[in-house]
Amino acid sequence: MTSQPLKHPRGNRKTVIIGFDFGTHSTKVVFRERGKADGHIARFDEAAKGYPFRASPSLVRCVDDRLYFGTEALSTSGGVLFRSLKVRLHGLQQSNISFSEGLNCETLVAAYFAWAFQQLRRSLSECADSNMFLNVAAPMSHFENPELKTRYLQIIQAAWNVSFVEQATPIHQGILSSEVARILAPMLEEPVLGPELRRFDVLPETIAPVVSLSLDPWMKPGMYMIVDTGAGTTEMSVFHAGEPGADQKVSCYRDETMLLGGADLNLAERSKDGDRCLKLDKIFLQMEKLYRRLWQEGYQIINGNHHARRRWSELTLVLSGGGTRHPRLAELLSKVNPMLAWPKKETRLSCRRHVPGTLELCENMDDGSLFAVANGLAIERKHWPIIFPPNQIEHLEPTQKVDNKPLGYWYPD
Ligand SMILES: Nc1ncnc2c1ncn2[C@@H]1O[C@H](COP(=O)(O)OP(=O)(O)OP(=O)(O)O)[C@@H](O)[C@H]1O
Ligand SMILES: [Mg+2]
Repeated sequence: MTSQPLKHPRGNRKTVIIGFDFGTHSTKVVFRERGKADGHIARFDEAAKGYPFRASPSLVRCVDDRLYFGTEALSTSGGVLFRSLKVRLHGLQQSNISFSEGLNCETLVAAYFAWAFQQLRRSLSECADSNMFLNVAAPMSHFENPELKTRYLQIIQAAWNVSFVEQATPIHQGILSSEVARILAPMLEEPVLGPELRRFDVLPETIAPVVSLSLDPWMKPGMYMIVDTGAGTTEMSVFHAGEPGADQKVSCYRDETMLLGGADLNLAERSKDGDRCLKLDKIFLQMEKLYRRLWQEGYQIINGNHHARRRWSELTLVLSGGGTRHPRLAELLSKVNPMLAWPKKETRLSCRRHVPGTLELCENMDDGSLFAVANGLAIERKHWPIIFPPNQIEHLEPTQKVDNKPLGYWYPD
């Protein structure tokens, strides 16, 4: 492994940024050539029934000590099927499955990543001579979770080192699990290279859709709450997007991730009659509470500022991810008005889905919002808007100085 700092891309070699969204249910990948506005959905697995178009099932199956990945893991029978690896990686889901010797959740995810990277490398053969950069999302807010980020970086580094190097070590369908353990387990122990030495990074899953939405050609300046509910996690971010352009500013007031998603809704749906409603209502309530709390906490940040407060009487709720296609969840969220600091008749609330306008979508695609995270990840960092986290939000000057504050002086006129 080299420890030389990264060479600056030279000559006329292309640079390609790959956004790799390893989801609880499926993995979506978008790639974008440096300098080009439009991203493309990468096809690196066969189509799978019950999965989004051009997405790969995030599955690994072990049959007779051999491992199968993605659609092949779905279509092969027998053995043990490892699902929801992303949630397991988070370490919060009790594991009721036993791994074979030398294998654990990290090794299985590294094996899936290595297989996927090798498939991607093959499918992006026209970019074979390019400088590749890879961004992967982890379920964390902009505060980041150092332990989770390191776990992701170790996995990506191991998978990268057997895939995006000249002499790749094939991680193929049906590979012996002992072979996977022999190759990947020691690599997972290696320290992660510093950011200046590697071509991959891990970014917060709450921020990737914010980037995708902010750069959307149809985006209007204003206050937004983006809710991305997948199968296992829900990410919410409340932010103000400024005028589009090269120096667009995005103030991210609050963002949070929660381990709750479409898989929990599906499980609740399968419960017996009485239980079903109770369980569904409990999940909806948790989501509604998070939505209301994030808006309130964001609002607290500007509470002393008469000028900035005006923006907060309008909100566009943007839905994204497969979980928000649950009809009751979408309906419930679109009716929640968190703007309690304002009289209802003075508020304006609207709701829409985020279908990335900077992404070349295929005809058979029924919901482009599923690719919002991958699309945000595939946008080069220097083209991101300038994102201000809560502690760096620019304070707008009050429009007027109020010396003798009457009761409710801050109330909008
Ligand atoms: N029309 C629909 N109605 C209800 N649920 C749906 C619908 N379409 C997809 N889903 C659910 O959406 C989830 C998958 O969404 P998505 O692809 O965004 O998740 P993911 O990215 O794999 O997971 P995560 O982001 O949580 O890690 C599944 O739980 C699926 O059952
Ligand atoms: Mg997702």
